[in-house]
Amino acid sequence: MSKNYKRTTITSALPYANGPIHIGHLAGVYVPADIYARYLRMKDEDVLFIGGSDEHGVPITIKARNEGVSPQVIVDRYHEQIKKSFEDFGISFDVYSRTSAPIHHETAAAFFKKLNEDGKFIEKANEQYFDEESQHFLADRYITGTCPHCGFEKAYGDQCENCGTSLSPLELIKPKSALSGNVPVLKKTNHWYLPLDQYEDWLTEWIIEGHKNDWKPNVYGQVKSWVDQGLKPRAVTRDLDWGVKVPVEGGDGKVLYVWFDAPIGYISAAKEWSENTGRDWEPYWKDAETKLLHFIGKDNIVFHCIIFPAMLKAEGSFILPENVPANEFLNLEGDKISTSRNWAVWLHEYLEDFPEKQDVLRYVLTANAPESKDNDFTWKDFQARNNNELLAIFGNFVNRTLVLTQKYYNGTVPPLGQLDEENQRILDEIAKYPEIISSSLDRYRFREALSELMNLARLGNKFMTDSEPWKLIKTDPEKVKTVLNISLQIVANLSVLCEPFLPYTSGKLQRLINLKDLKWKDTGRIDLLKEGDQLNTPELLFERIEDKAVEAQIQKLMDTKIENEANADVSVNPAKETIEYDDFMKMDIRTGTILEAEKVPKTKKLIKLKVDTGIDQRTVVSGIAEYYKAEDIIGKKISVLVNLAPRKLRGIESQGMILMAEDTDGKLCFVSPTEEVNNGSEVK
Ligand code: 2FM
Ligand code: ZN
Repeated sequence: MSKNYKRTTITSALPYANGPIHIGHLAGVYVPADIYARYLRMKDEDVLFIGGSDEHGVPITIKARNEGVSPQVIVDRYHEQIKKSFEDFGISFDVYSRTSAPIHHETAAAFFKKLNEDGKFIEKANEQYFDEESQHFLADRYITGTCPHCGFEKAYGDQCENCGTSLSPLELIKPKSALSGNVPVLKKTNHWYLPLDQYEDWLTEWIIEGHKNDWKPNVYGQVKSWVDQGLKPRAVTRDLDWGVKVPVEGGDGKVLYVWFDAPIGYISAAKEWSENTGRDWEPYWKDAETKLLHFIGKDNIVFHCIIFPAMLKAEGSFILPENVPANEFLNLEGDKISTSRNWAVWLHEYLEDFPEKQDVLRYVLTANAPESKDNDFTWKDFQARNNNELLAIFGNFVNRTLVLTQKYYNGTVPPLGQLDEENQRILDEIAKYPEIISSSLDRYRFREALSELMNLARLGNKFMTDSEPWKLIKTDPEKVKTVLNISLQIVANLSVLCEPFLPYTSGKLQRLINLKDLKWKDTGRIDLLKEGDQLNTPELLFERIEDKAVEAQIQKLMDTKIENEANADVSVNPAKETIEYDDFMKMDIRTGTILEAEKVPKTKKLIKLKVDTGIDQRTVVSGIAEYYKAEDIIGKKISVLVNLAPRKLRGIESQGMILMAEDTDGKLCFVSPTEEVNNGSEVK
């Protein structure tokens, strides 16, 4: 950890080019990555900050099919929009590339070829679902069905979004083609697999033992649980026509799995940067003295901590990540951010509605970052943090200092003069801040770092309020010079230390005080501004955000809710095919009572229940933890399917299924008798 690195390569998850960027992306990945990159540059360190669009994968081809256009049209549209919104927001990528670029196709193909030549893959044929109508193999999201773990009926071939389990299409119950809605058939096809099981010992040594103390607990815990459950070979090719073509014999009609090519996109982007700048990209990916960091959201942990490192290890010439500071998720007004439900604050719309307020959003998303748990963004909090923190503390202090300097000394810096004990204490405090903030940033604790920056502004604000220079000017004008000189030194320090967090504010403030090119090493000092230095006419750094501005945003979300509800009415699932009475009678459904309930550790959705079915007391595992707290459902009357074959979920045998009604939002609700009935009553 304490190793001295020569340079840092920072990657930020490549967003899918099938929709715009929203605040969840920003809070989870791009704002912390940008703060870190800017911080290192302020320390004069050598940094390569990589971004780009992820332009392959089934969601993109499905969107293209729905719109009747080619996938290229979709990715061109969103790549441009995403790139521009990042630029307008001040995300300081050194390169923003895309995975449909030729350089990426070449790089990813060469990577695959090398692994293939070196015997790092297993090649095998197995049966996969095939849609006879559209003549397509059904990979990943081209197939849906019922999750074998939680019973969710709209699980995808690669993942169940209800219980979070990663799946393969063959595990789905009642599989259905997303292309035609037909029941698929099985057909043999050949694929390349990365034998992750062969990397278990190495992963255990490298992460489980080697990064126990320096990786974030949420990241480390997820990796450990994957490795503890045992890793399986993972297919890295697909029968699709959109993606990087499989570059070896037998690869016709096949492409690399999107999660195989996308992280290689980080390397391709470095090559593109090299072409743009004439600098050598290789040390940034191959020199052991380079620190590699992946900034991602929690849904990407397995890919960046297990699969991509195994690929890099297999290739042999690349470095491995030194840390993967993944964040949890940001919710919006108490509800999950969702592109399909339009439940989001879109970056390009924010920039239109709040022009030149990039730093306000950066501030709010950092102050409330989902660093160790999911967090909630609300417009009221956005307003409060702007008005009560940025404006009332930082802005107010800076403004009072600059205005009084203008008023008393025509904007020239007064001498420091004689220091009393309190003055000396303040100067000693100032000196400590760069180290305090650095220490948090070095540990990827961005919220903490920002709060320390604000403490420096608070220190200045309090010093100004306590000193009352506007009164002192009449009784002790010499002392006022000291007060304002010290305040100006705090302002100057703030202007540099805030740059990683609030780059626009930093630029504006430095223009106001006529400073430039200052670096982190210059901070902590009290002579950043010299006696006699001329300042510019003061301007306000932040504006009040009025109720009507946030009310308009809240209204926009209300409209979305209403629209979703209206659409939900028409999108109730159609009735399933008719069954015979005897089919129904095969199901033995009883009323029962929940006797005990406890969350299944290390799962998001599962609760283990002890249920009195009237017949017996038995264990049932149910995927309801997102909607109910275990302690709240003890004693609840329920309906339970008691003759469902037992299944193991996370090692616990579930003996039945609790009946739940699911609304169009996916929210689950118990199907309970509305009148008193004995446990064990048959539901018919
Ligand atoms: O989850 C996502 O949005 C992916 N497109 C992230 C890819 S990160 C990297 F591997 F490219
Ligand atoms: Zn599930």
